[in-house]
Amino acid sequence: MKPTRPFHQTPVITIDGPTASGKGTVAASVAATLGFHLLDSGALYRLTALASARYNIEPEDGDALAELVAELHITFREGCAQLDGVDVSTEIRAEEIGNRASAIAVHGQVRTALIARQRAFRKPPGLVADGRDMGTVIFPDATLKVFLTASDEARAARRHKQLIQKGFSANMEDLLRDLRERDARDSNRAAAPLKPAVDAKTLDTSGLSIDQAVDQIIGWFNAVPA
Ligand code: CDP
Repeated sequence: MKPTRPFHQTPVITIDGPTASGKGTVAASVAATLGFHLLDSGALYRLTALASARYNIEPEDGDALAELVAELHITFREGCAQLDGVDVSTEIRAEEIGNRASAIAVHGQVRTALIARQRAFRKPPGLVADGRDMGTVIFPDATLKVFLTASDEARAARRHKQLIQKGFSANMEDLLRDLRERDARDSNRAAAPLKPAVDAKTLDTSGLSIDQAVDQIIGWFNAVPA
């Protein structure tokens, strides 16, 4: 049994990586296993993207988007993401919203406006946070930092399965092209580019089941000295 850490050291496990690397599923499972809170930071970018589409704010207009973030009424309840009190969990998973989220995520003002909302998720007994910059920018003092990767083909196949299960239509060629475009944009942007933190452990999930990836991360976490 690990000794309990003081409040300000509430443990955080960050799980970053490219699109469809399995971060979301793995993070949710690690959080459930440890009884920790969960931050799906991508959902915040997707919610912002959805709201910007509704209010006709152009993805290029960083200042207007940052103002929008300050006013967004977002709640997460029992795994559901709500915008203005309405469950939009399925709507934000559409590929067009993911692509729009990636386009608005390039703006430093938008990223800064989202920082406090993300850090507020750090509460006892602990947090698992998934995204692109959890270990590099949002929780640089995280207890454990993981960078998940998988081959382009494995990621496109996973995304395909996920979209079909949610009732969206999808085609492998388009998905492969979209995910490569999104990787390039996420990795090459100036503000918080997608890259492993220097102290992150990299895990290639191409040939791993979800359970194997989760077991590896829990093993690493339990091995961190208290
Ligand atoms: O599901 P997928 O991994 O494709 O995306 P997501 O985690 O839901 O995030 C959607 C988009 O938001 C990503 O393509 C990123 O451009 C952006 N994002 C980000 O910039 N920083 C984060 N911490 C999380 C997401």
